[in-house]
Amino acid sequence: MQVVHTLAELRAALAGQSRTTFVPTMGNLHEGHLALVREAARRGAPVVASIFVNRLQFLPHEDFDRYPRTLARDCELLAPAGCDLVFAPAEDELYPEPQTYKVQPPAALADLLEGEFRPGFFTGVCTVVMKLLHCVQPAVAVFGQKDYQQLKVIEAMVRQFALPVQIVPGATVRAADGLALSSRNGYLSAEERAEAPTLQRVLAALAAAGRDGLRPLADLEAAAQAELRQRGWQPDYLTLRRRRDLLAPGDDERAAGEPLVALGAARLGSTRLIDNLEC
Ligand code: PAF
Repeated sequence: MQVVHTLAELRAALAGQSRTTFVPTMGNLHEGHLALVREAARRGAPVVASIFVNRLQFLPHEDFDRYPRTLARDCELLAPAGCDLVFAPAEDELYPEPQTYKVQPPAALADLLEGEFRPGFFTGVCTVVMKLLHCVQPAVAVFGQKDYQQLKVIEAMVRQFALPVQIVPGATVRAADGLALSSRNGYLSAEERAEAPTLQRVLAALAAAGRDGLRPLADLEAAAQAELRQRGWQPDYLTLRRRRDLLAPGDDERAAGEPLVALGAARLGSTRLIDNLEC
């Protein structure tokens, strides 16, 4: 596996590769990322992973500075997972001047849920993903379903800009107790780690109750939030949405089998966790 840090090195390494599969990451890799890399490798083409902590998608009070940078360990994990090339640019390689051109996703998809609580987040994500896709020019790119709204935003961006890349969703990997793997799980204390699977359990209950259509959705969502609050969490949202556009389903749609997804974000201590379950 080759590791490159500059665009010139990346282009040289990619010369002659007509089809690659790309897995963008911010590093601090865990099994969830490695499953995306294995999914990429399974497709047969050379696999390129990027490691870049993208300042543009962090709010000033968020964890950009303390986000773990673990390049050497990440590379040790990537090689056996089937990665062929790692692109790990320094910040001034990817942003040699202030990135004043940005990709602005539509408010209808990007200003709700994560976008409501992290304003500008999806502009930062779309901008860096667009740039990385231009740098790597993959035929396929794999994005985890753990970041469900991000996956939807990227799929729509690729569709609307007619980017010549196929977006493939990668399934969420969970610990034995159900907690979705996340780089931010490492911030949890032992006590918080024991409590953390509750988010997934509450989402599963919301998904089941929401699907049967008997009680108003607003009541179910309020009850889910109250349960988390009682256990010491500070929820941002716990909600059931249509998979296709992340808007609230009508009662008729709940009953008629519209594909839905329960999505949640909540803070446990100082750590913000997100998760989702399709239903
Ligand atoms: O999901 C992530 O890790 C990041 O949002 C991404 C897609 C690598 C862009 O920085």
